[in-house]
Order: sequence, then structure tokens, then C-alpha cells
Amino acid sequence: MLMEDLLILPPVEVDPAFRADVLNGLRMQPQRAIPARWFYDHAGSRIFEEITELPEYYPTRTETALLKAHCAEVGRIAGPGRAVVEFGSGSSTKTPHLLAAVEPSAYVPIDISGEFLRQSAAALAENFPKLPVLPLEADFTYPLEPPASIARLPKLGFFPGSTIGNMVARTAVNLLRAMVETLGIGSMLLIGMDRIKSTDILIPAYDDAAGVTARFNLNLLNRINRELAGTIPVDAFRHRAIWNDDYSRIEMHLEAVRDVRFSVAGQDFEMRAGETIHTENSHKYGPRDARLLLRAGAWTPIREWVDPDGLFSLILAEAQPPGTAP
Ligand code: AVJ
Repeated sequence: MLMEDLLILPPVEVDPAFRADVLNGLRMQPQRAIPARWFYDHAGSRIFEEITELPEYYPTRTETALLKAHCAEVGRIAGPGRAVVEFGSGSSTKTPHLLAAVEPSAYVPIDISGEFLRQSAAALAENFPKLPVLPLEADFTYPLEPPASIARLPKLGFFPGSTIGNMVARTAVNLLRAMVETLGIGSMLLIGMDRIKSTDILIPAYDDAAGVTARFNLNLLNRINRELAGTIPVDAFRHRAIWNDDYSRIEMHLEAVRDVRFSVAGQDFEMRAGETIHTENSHKYGPRDARLLLRAGAWTPIREWVDPDGLFSLILAEAQPPGTAP
């Protein structure tokens, strides 16, 4: 190879899926939109951890309290010896409560952020020395093959954090059905779902006084600039969190505060003041909505726990054979 060839190598590795989602998303009409999964680079994952500790952000502490209070009952219903498969495990902070209560035969954390996954899997393995921990670096929104060593074990899926809320109904249903494929009939799923509540609570949870969620949202622009050779003037954008009542969801947007022009990966873009890039949906569910979504996704709810203020729900569901009821 000639020396000249080395000089034209790009400085950072470009994820082609990120590039495609950003370029298509910035052209989308009538609303520009970039999928929320791209928030979670290393910096974004760390800012998200900060969000979970904010006084306004109730989901994490509410769900953690529910797990502490009710995992023993989950263990009694599910029985011992299941392989626990966690979808989007992140830092796995809620998992010890579940693992301590259900006498699992193995733990399979699945996450797209490999670095985060390996760190937290190693930390967890130290606290459960006898438990086989089998991390899987994968995008769980596609059907996947669990490790061969757990193929014959009964399974308990774990999908906390109301991550399901990031997905529109049809994507959520597709994912739930893919989970049935991955885990198998007879499996159980423990899922966290955020409840519909007053916007006086919802809006501050996604637009906190310390500006951490704003940093989380704006970090996406920094990531685009860094990884896709972007020239976006980040100071020309502000964080917006709005309640969309029709869709029953919080939406996060990045709003241009003045007319801007910039380029990403060599392509030019123009935005007018007031125009937004839609960056995240966080759907909220009433009790019946949650059960209907699960049933549409081929999971039968069998037990539900809610905190005294009705902020958040934890549902245990079972993948039953189809066609057993009228
Ligand atoms: C990780 C998707 C559950 O929707 O509440 C928090 C992400 N975004 N603050 C949520 C998030 C802004 C979070 N989920």
C-alpha cells in the first residue's frame, strides 16, 4: 500500500446506519425526525444516567421501588431456574433486585452499546459469582438468536424503564411479537410501562430545571458533528418537550431559534427559525391501553403492580399458546 492511500482514510469510523438515519431524517417532510436510539453514544449514555437521578424524573426511582417491593412475588409466580433475558440492559442498575429474587439459571443482557454492556455485565457477574452471565451485543429491535446454552431453559424476559414507550404502537407490537419468537411460548415477560398523568408532572420530567435533558437532546447534534462531519451550529437549537395528547406521548424536539444552514456528511441543509427536528417519543399508557398493547403483541398480562401515586406500572405477562380462547 502506498503512503498516499493512508492519508485519505476517514478520521473516525462512520456507522452507515447512523449516517442513513440522520440524512434521511433531516430531509423528512413535513416533520424532520431522527430515531431516539442514536442518543446513546458514550456521552449520551452518561447523560441519561444523570437524568435518572433528577428530582423531576420519577420513572427510574418509582420503578426501582416497585421492583424492590414485588420481585419476590415475581419469583413465586415465575418459579426458579429461568434464564433472565434483559432487553436494552444499559447499566443494568435495576437487575440485581430481580436476579436476587427469581433464582435464575442464567442472565443474558442485550444492548447495542457494547462498551457499556461489557462493563455492566462484568460488574454484575462479580455480585452473582455462581450465575452464568452471557452478554449479547445486538439491536434487540430485530429478532435474535439467544445463546445456545440457554436454548432449553425456561425464560423470563425483562424490559424495564418504559423503553417500550419509545416506540409507536406498530413498532411496539412488532417488538413484543419478536420477543415471543426469541423467548418462546411459555416464557414470561416483566415489563415497565409509564402511566398517563398530569402534564404538570410529565413536562418537567422531560424538561428539568437543571437542563440535563436539554443537554441529552442537544448531544445528538454534537454526535452528528463529530461522527458525520457535521457543521451544525448547536447554539442555534433549543430543547423542547411537548405533550401530544392524540398520541398520548411526550415528544422531544430540537428547535431552530434562528434560520440556519449547515452540512452533514457533505450534504447541505436549511432550517427556518421555529422549525424542529423530532428526536424522541415517550408514549404513556393507561391501565387498559397497557394490557391491550401487550395482548396485541401476543403477551397475556397476569399480574400488575403500580406505585401508590399511579405514576408507573410493572406488568408480568406470559406468552401463551395462540388460539386457546374465543
Ligand atoms: C429510556 C426511553 C425510557 O422516555 O423516559 C428520558 C428516555 N428521554 N428523558 C424516557 C428519556 C428523556 C426514557 N426512556
